[in-house]
Amino acid sequence: MPAPRILILGATGGLGRALHRHLSPRHETTLWGRADLDFDQPETMPARLEAQKFDVLLNTSGMTSPDACEAQPERAFQANAQAPRILAECCHARGARLIHFSTDYVFSGQPHDLWSEEDEAEPVNIYGRSKLAGEQAVLKASPHALVARVSWLFGPDKPSHPDHIIQKALQTDDLSAVADKVSVPTSNADIGGWIEQLIFRHQTTRGVLHLCNSGIASWHTWAEAALGIAHCLGIPVKTRHVKPVPLASLTQLKAPRPMMTVMDNARLQNLLGVQIRNWYDALEDYLSEKYPRQ
Ligand SMILES: NC(=O)c1ccc[n+]([C@@H]2O[C@H](COP(=O)([O-])OP(=O)(O)OC[C@H]3O[C@@H](n4cnc5c(N)ncnc54)[C@H](OP(=O)(O)O)[C@@H]3O)[C@@H](O)[C@H]2O)c1
Repeated sequence: MPAPRILILGATGGLGRALHRHLSPRHETTLWGRADLDFDQPETMPARLEAQKFDVLLNTSGMTSPDACEAQPERAFQANAQAPRILAECCHARGARLIHFSTDYVFSGQPHDLWSEEDEAEPVNIYGRSKLAGEQAVLKASPHALVARVSWLFGPDKPSHPDHIIQKALQTDDLSAVADKVSVPTSNADIGGWIEQLIFRHQTTRGVLHLCNSGIASWHTWAEAALGIAHCLGIPVKTRHVKPVPLASLTQLKAPRPMMTVMDNARLQNLLGVQIRNWYDALEDYLSEKYPRQ
């Protein structure tokens, strides 16, 4: 059987670029951005996809800011639900496999054990509702599709929380971060490895799958971990301590945020037959590569 050709959506996004870097050296891979496929112009999508040769479609694109989604619900549902439905219909029609990325923000965030794939999703904001509608539309239109839920991404292609906190700590020792909201920071590079396995060794895996590193963190513990690692690497951060603050103090946030969305990655571990590493080890690798010891 010929090797599957992979099309990735999200050329300017953190995860799309990471997946492309991971997969393109060994596999036939194409990376598309908004100019190639615009979710705001749904009528153009089927013909664009039809003209492209691919066997696996990785959709990382979507409206990813909860506050922007809250301000523009129609656009959020267009990008996060209607467009993925069209992707799934096109994939189904040509016998291609869709791997569609979703989020831990589909969960309510109420006190809970780790959230498994079987737990009920009850999002608290427009972002989560539109992503959940996207999951359901994708699985209905293409029963062979895989919905990969990820959380709190970090990696070299787009600055995220640890990058921002290190940049701030180079200027000031007066730092704060939310301590009462928890999830799992997850390495885009690690996701690249898992996705490669899912494409080439687990071709029939479908439904919902949680793709996250192991462990648990708040924005506060994640920030202090990043500063501790930065300090060990010789980065001249002015402090390793971050003041813990409650989420309620961030009054500028437009969208409500779920408080506890730590996902269980047992299905992924069982499937791949490996121990998924802790987010801290992945963060250490990422920061060591980004800031070689000084
Ligand atoms: N980042 C996280 O911490 C996180 C957490 C949980 C789940 N996720 C999910 O993981 C996936 C990847 O996240 P990410 O951090 O890589 O996202 P990202 O960096 O924000 O990238 C989003 C991508 O979507 C594209 N896009 C947005 N609206 C579009 C439209 N109307 N038409 C075509 N393309 C459009 C963007 O292109 P432009 O640059 O042109 O706008 C960009 O390439 C998303 O599904 C997200 O919901 C992310």
